[in-house]
Amino acid sequence: MSTKKSFVVAVAGATGAVGREMLRTLEQRDFPVSRLVALASKRSAGTKLPWKGGDVTIEELGPKSFEGVDIALFSAGASVSREYGPIAAKSGAVVIDNSSAWRMDPEVPLVVPEVNMAAAEKRPKGIIANPNCSTIQMVVALKPLHDAARIKHIVVSTYQATSGKGHAAVEDLLAQTRALVEGKKIEPSVFPGQIAFNVMSDWKAGENGYSEEELKMVNETRKIMGDDTIAVSPTTVRVPVVNGHSEAVHVQFHRAMTAEEAKNLLRGADGVVLMEDAYAPGKHPQPVLATGTDPVYVGRVRDDVGVKGAINLFVVSDNLRKGAALNAVQIAERLFVK
Ligand code: A2P
Repeated sequence: MSTKKSFVVAVAGATGAVGREMLRTLEQRDFPVSRLVALASKRSAGTKLPWKGGDVTIEELGPKSFEGVDIALFSAGASVSREYGPIAAKSGAVVIDNSSAWRMDPEVPLVVPEVNMAAAEKRPKGIIANPNCSTIQMVVALKPLHDAARIKHIVVSTYQATSGKGHAAVEDLLAQTRALVEGKKIEPSVFPGQIAFNVMSDWKAGENGYSEEELKMVNETRKIMGDDTIAVSPTTVRVPVVNGHSEAVHVQFHRAMTAEEAKNLLRGADGVVLMEDAYAPGKHPQPVLATGTDPVYVGRVRDDVGVKGAINLFVVSDNLRKGAALNAVQIAERLFVK
């Protein structure tokens, strides 16, 4: 815990989808910021973003940007984090990095406060990594169940929103939707084809036919939970949703679990809102209900009809908030403020 009462906070990638959410989250949670350093590329230098009833002027990110900075939140892509993360750490800032650059580095803790906050105390590189958005919401929902019955196997299918791919991806979805509704031809600018009224896998290739996003869910889940024996079978898909990721999750344990027990464990769990009615047409967790809010919503908790002792859940959260900005700010809060 720091003896300081307020902090110089830098946001690298402040103009991006996650960066803007970081500014909003810092402001809404009244994080004690003595000075905000909003950083982006040369393109945005000199432009302004709203901040605490006024505005903040964007500065171009460079090697000197982190002088005097206490906390540096990064969300400007992996190459920026790889280059500037160590520079920020060397100049004395605690770096909380939302990119994939450092997540699997054994010297960098990968942290979800509700699950493994203690890991953040040991950070030899001065960098803490914020996990992938899909992984964060899944592990928040599964941690209480893992503690009770130890997870053996997770089968997860995601329905991921376009905002997870950045600001320009949302613009692409909206432009494609408008074009199709007006009977015009689409001109995809970010997605590798039609995302409006469609679903697709748009991630880079990983290994064995799995995408990079799918492999993140495998490796990051094990690292955060601190259990390399957990088997994860993922399929990630992008859907034409602006914001809010959904996941259908099937879980098997080392002993039998029932939906009833799972609901008891999830009721009041840290960061979770349990939506109790498993059937509930239109009343289960949904992206439009989660957007702009903090919790991980868990609903449709059911005993698996095929595998005895396994359960199924539907997990939804705001991917820009708990999946990114909020998780990063919560790490900073727990390290510096409370
Ligand atoms: P800019 O708006 O100036 O391009 P998103 O994830 O929504 O696409 O946003 C990416 C964020 O990362 C933006 O704030 C973007 O700034 C920033 N960014 C991208 N490349 C760089 C770079 N080379 N140096 C600094 N900031 C960058």
